[in-house]
Amino acid sequence: MSSVEGDVPTWRGRWTFIMAATGSAVGLGNIWKFPYIAGENGGGAFVLVYLACILLVGIPVMVAEVMLGRRGRHSPVNSMRAVITEVGARPYWQGLGWLGWLIAVLVLSFYSVIAGWALAYIPEMATGAFQGVNPQATKDIFDTMLQDRNRLILWHTVFMVMTVVVVTAGVTRGLGAAARVLMPALFVLLIILLIFSYWHGDFSRGLSFLFSFDVSKLTLRGVLEALGHAFFTLSLGVGAIMAYGAYMPADVSIGKTVLTVALLDTVVALMAGMAIFPIVFAHGGIDPGAGPALLFVTLPVAFGAMQAGILIGGLFFILVVIAAWSSAISLLEPGVAWLAENKGFNRFTATLLLATATWALGLGTVLSFNDWAGYKVAGMTFFDGIDFLTSRVLLPLSGLLIALFVGWVLTPTVSKDELNGEQSAAWPVWYWVLRYICPAAIGVVLVMGLYDSFA
Ligand code: PFF
Repeated sequence: MSSVEGDVPTWRGRWTFIMAATGSAVGLGNIWKFPYIAGENGGGAFVLVYLACILLVGIPVMVAEVMLGRRGRHSPVNSMRAVITEVGARPYWQGLGWLGWLIAVLVLSFYSVIAGWALAYIPEMATGAFQGVNPQATKDIFDTMLQDRNRLILWHTVFMVMTVVVVTAGVTRGLGAAARVLMPALFVLLIILLIFSYWHGDFSRGLSFLFSFDVSKLTLRGVLEALGHAFFTLSLGVGAIMAYGAYMPADVSIGKTVLTVALLDTVVALMAGMAIFPIVFAHGGIDPGAGPALLFVTLPVAFGAMQAGILIGGLFFILVVIAAWSSAISLLEPGVAWLAENKGFNRFTATLLLATATWALGLGTVLSFNDWAGYKVAGMTFFDGIDFLTSRVLLPLSGLLIALFVGWVLTPTVSKDELNGEQSAAWPVWYWVLRYICPAAIGVVLVMGLYDSFA
């Protein structure tokens, strides 16, 4: 950290923000969730809609969110309050900060459980459990793990404690430095996996599955899932990016920075997909629509067949955990900052309180895969329900409200000033897209997608 502007210290330069924001954006959403939801929705057309959502909705909303954070220079709830006061907006816009808070807790509750699966895979890899296995065997190993409630709880707890430790220590210290090394390492490993898939998988079928545009497979609920995932993967609508925006130096270009983060995030998701699907199609018995299990039953087959599979596989799951870790930190941080700023808690107590509540909620996700697997409401387990509620209802709603607030309530002078709009040719384009395209697209997709989900 270098200088102090307003109430919070700012980060040194543009790259520290890029690395921290990428650390938040790149996580289980890219490596675990994107491939499996693309698989469930038939590939190609879904991927294209997803890319369109990133470009037309995700990036403009991300610019808006970073801008609100930098303008407010507090934790998200208080940044919103500061901006609302500055422009004389109605106080109920404050609800936007609260909504983000609620979504963050819900998301982190299941995020930590899935990160726990990746943690559990590290010792499995290291002890050679996957050496020479076929897809059926990896599926058995995975299913056995899911049945073991206590083991899932143990790893969920370990992951939550890891997150608490960093958030208690103060999120900005060391985070940028760590991300600088770990993100490139993850990137390199993904390239190794891609090369493996190219040589040993059915690469052309994998690629055509991911990129051939077959409209007949696309449903309205799939479009909503793509939109919701665009928010999820870019860490939008929860206050995480707003919180990081608060630390951004005033002279850094928000537009360029956001484009870099979104590009890195998208590339990682596409690489994960391109590593996974060729393996799916090279082996009979793996269903591309295998759901949340997909990552955990495909890649171990590849590691099991590699010379240095134990090492590379172990390293891969370590990096997945680290990617998830930097995302989880950014999910917990805004709520903790608010509790500490407003409620007089010290950071440690605030973190412990919030993490314990989130951990307890996560037990519902753990049980969804074993004891409660049979309990379904509207065809959904507890985990499905939380995922549905966050990704397909609350995140799009939060994104919609951010677009409406910045596009219609905030005076253009404020966003022009913060985004250096006087000099920039991109400002009018961004403003127009945020005002008209984003609300219309999110509104229509949300209503029609929800209708399609329950009709
Ligand atoms: N963007 C993260 C991922 O793709 O894994 C998930 C996430 C992190 C969502 C932080 C929201 C957030 F605030």
